[in-house]
Amino acid sequence: MTAPASNDALMEDIVGLCKRRGFIFASSEIYGGYNGFYDYGPLGVELRNNIKQAWWRDMVHRRDDIEGLDSTIIMHPKIWKASGHIDSFSDPLVDCKDSKRRYRADQLFFAPVIIDGETLGYVAFVEGTDMPTILKRAKKIRDWADKTQSKIDEDALANDRKEVTEASEEQRAQMLAPEAGKVGSLTAPREFKLMFETKVGPLADDSAVAYLRPETAQGIFANYKNIVDTGRVKIPFGIAQIGKAFRNEITPRNFIFRSREFEQMEIEYFIAPDADWKALHREWLDTCINWLVSIGLPRKSITEDVHATEKLAFYSQATTDLMFQFPHGEQELWGVACRSDYDLKQHQKHSGKSMEIFDEASKSKFVPHVIEPSLGVDRTLLAVLTAAYTEDEVPNGKGKVEKRILLKFSPRVAPYKAAIFPLLKNKPELVEVAEKLYKKLQRRWNVFYDASGAIGRRYRRQDEIGTPFGITIDFDTIEKDGTVTLRDRDTCEQRRVTEAELIEFLEEQIDG
Ligand code: GAP
Repeated sequence: MTAPASNDALMEDIVGLCKRRGFIFASSEIYGGYNGFYDYGPLGVELRNNIKQAWWRDMVHRRDDIEGLDSTIIMHPKIWKASGHIDSFSDPLVDCKDSKRRYRADQLFFAPVIIDGETLGYVAFVEGTDMPTILKRAKKIRDWADKTQSKIDEDALANDRKEVTEASEEQRAQMLAPEAGKVGSLTAPREFKLMFETKVGPLADDSAVAYLRPETAQGIFANYKNIVDTGRVKIPFGIAQIGKAFRNEITPRNFIFRSREFEQMEIEYFIAPDADWKALHREWLDTCINWLVSIGLPRKSITEDVHATEKLAFYSQATTDLMFQFPHGEQELWGVACRSDYDLKQHQKHSGKSMEIFDEASKSKFVPHVIEPSLGVDRTLLAVLTAAYTEDEVPNGKGKVEKRILLKFSPRVAPYKAAIFPLLKNKPELVEVAEKLYKKLQRRWNVFYDASGAIGRRYRRQDEIGTPFGITIDFDTIEKDGTVTLRDRDTCEQRRVTEAELIEFLEEQIDG
């Protein structure tokens, strides 16, 4: 794996806007924050809910073959034994004995410091580190070797990169860790368990140990039998769930991309063992890509990463990740795995309950195989913010061109769908009509009312929080034909529409 390039400035702009406008705050901020945990403010919670609702509508309501579920976060610990998580759900960890920092070894990279063809040592750096920083660290090794005047082979630094998991003991002994003051401070990688433990019930002994779920998937497998027995499902069918998941990530970072408490939207799609799983896998990948595009992600920012067989998760037969161009590089957004019958067979074995289904079509009984599209809500939200964040220049009310920050959210996910403005707040005739329209639209959608300040400034405030449409009540509305001005956030174009046209337009844009 190569370390992806990053756009730190864009990430800073997004983080700054999220804090300034009330999308996302660091958890426990008044106590200095809590690494890997985030809170969603008034606009963030709307955006988040809209993403989840759009997913649920498209994957559950608008399909006849998928049912919904909401299972508990803490489940019987035997579930995690059966699923393999207790034994295998871990990441490789390395400690730096000098800086006392910890790193995920598969996300820490190293490159050789070569001068005149001779390798003097190695620099280690986390993914996303820029070249000037890597070079600065490499120069320390050069200086310690008393070769201050010699030129470092920058090509090797940029291109001969490997994961620290692949480093030999000898290489680690000559390696300068990211925040270390000397070489050789990294320990050998060891497995670090990612599940959060808790205790259930009044006894504090080992029998009380339970886990916060690290994925929602197991709640689906554990309820599969209930849904087969009580629903009217027939193969192929899916069970969908949205809910919190928890992982004690070694290095939570890149804002909400990798956190310790996050939310997943998962589907287990059950198929016959002899079904063409490769074709169905492809179908699911296309469905997922189309859905991402439908919530505003550009098609060109989404690529596919087919996992090499030796890198597959312990349960997987094949996995393709949909990758997105995040500010910190191209990274996994949505994993689409073929989990075969691994999970159901494991639960059948550990619970002693049959996981077979009778298939009317083939008149046969079997334990189904499964295709699993698994998406993070928070990661989707970061992708939506990344795709939406735009800076452009538009003329202000006096015709002077001004810089503008806007979020080009799709109307499907935008926190506010429209903002209603009376042109002047001290004209009761305008205010009365505007308030009436506001109350009417508010019954169906989350809309905003703003009567104060110059109209241009009111537009800008909405642009910055991604409200797609501005509706202005002016004198033509009350004196002429009742039409209102409808402004498009992205083009700033305005047109007059009747109330009926406005509602039809909003319906199509928001709910279509
Ligand atoms: N049930 C399979 C499963 O959980 P995963 O690849 O570990 O697979 C699925 O996770 C998705 O959940 C990821 O593609 C990502 O969107 C999201 N995700 C995983 N770990 C995350 C974390 N620490 N923070 C935020 N999102 C995460």
